[in-house]
Amino acid sequence: MATHSLLILPGDGIGPEVMAEVRRVIDWFAANKGIAFDVSEDLVGGAAYDAHGTPLTDETLAKAQEVDAVLLGAVGGPKYDNLDFSVKPERGLLRLRKEMDLFSNLRPAQCFDALADFSSLKRDVVAGLDIVIVRELTSGVYFGEPRGIHKEGNERVGINTQRYTESEIARVARSAFELAKKRSNKVCSMEKANVMESGILWRDVVQEIHDTEYPEVELTHMYADNGAMQLVRAPKQFDVIVTDNLFGDVLSDCAAMLTGSLGMLPSASLGLPMANGKPKAMYEPVHGSAPDIAGQGKANPIACILSFAMALRYSFDEGEAADLLEGAVEKVLADGVRTADLMGPEGGTPVSTTEMGDAILAALD
Ligand code: NAI
Ligand code: MG
Repeated sequence: MATHSLLILPGDGIGPEVMAEVRRVIDWFAANKGIAFDVSEDLVGGAAYDAHGTPLTDETLAKAQEVDAVLLGAVGGPKYDNLDFSVKPERGLLRLRKEMDLFSNLRPAQCFDALADFSSLKRDVVAGLDIVIVRELTSGVYFGEPRGIHKEGNERVGINTQRYTESEIARVARSAFELAKKRSNKVCSMEKANVMESGILWRDVVQEIHDTEYPEVELTHMYADNGAMQLVRAPKQFDVIVTDNLFGDVLSDCAAMLTGSLGMLPSASLGLPMANGKPKAMYEPVHGSAPDIAGQGKANPIACILSFAMALRYSFDEGEAADLLEGAVEKVLADGVRTADLMGPEGGTPVSTTEMGDAILAALD
């Protein structure tokens, strides 16, 4: 059986705390399911700056380029706020994303039944929800030229340019179709082809990739504004949504929050296929380093644990192990085990980061 290589970058704040629980989960799968991992650990963000004067060393980057998957905790914190922009912790993360060319950002919105009442929407609308938004991450209006603010006559003008090439659209479309094949074979592509030429191209290219390479996947198109409405009205109609950088930024935050706490949300950023046929990949919780609770044992490790579950599914082809792990999280929540961020108005006693890890390991057993 193949050995899965994994580079762990715990980072700053609660990053190392939640990652410690993931390490126990990894050890459990190695010991109980015979899955072979080759795990290495390194520094990123403020931790790397403290040790090396840079938030990401070339050696760490080279390692990240070689492994099957990178798992990152979180970076940043008040200690680093006054650093020069070029060595800020976030630069380490951005450099990883850019150098690894991680153009496809997967943000699942999954509603665990036990937390359905946490949603701002009615229980029926969100219970059982399990969708993924695929956001193009390295092009579009955040990167297009010309950009900037200049003066025209007496007033200032701000400019950003939405620019997409055919190949940029094609590769993120492929990433969404591949994902759909591992789920329920359904993709909805969102743009504004009614008012934007880049949206017309987006729609055409996604359709072409579908027709020539993935005819077996069900493809629909939707204008992004309607998509926002539908996400709030009836999110369960979707499975995989693929969209550009700007719409994806907004829609993924919206979809994620349908389901509850920041402490629950995993993500994946995928690049082009490597020699083993799997995409280059980095997995990370959506949350940051949470300096307000760092070092207190209060952090919810589930977002990071579910990020590892995504690695199992999308990088390691261990779908059964991923199901098992997600099932263990589901059971623990159903049993009423809650870290502080998951406490409802009814109150109760929250468990610590380690106790949440204990409960998930016990559920795995
Ligand atoms: P944050 O996500 O760190 O925290 C926001 C709020 O959510 C805080 O009240 C925090 O206690 C809570 N929270 C976050 N994760 C939690 C968890 N796992 N369990 C329980 N509660 C949790 O965002 P914030 O406060 O805006 O940023 C703090 C630092 O993190 C900054 O330096 C920021 O630049 C950095 N950051 C890093 C990110 C990354 O590494 N990907 C993403 C977002 C922020
Ligand atoms: Mg955002």
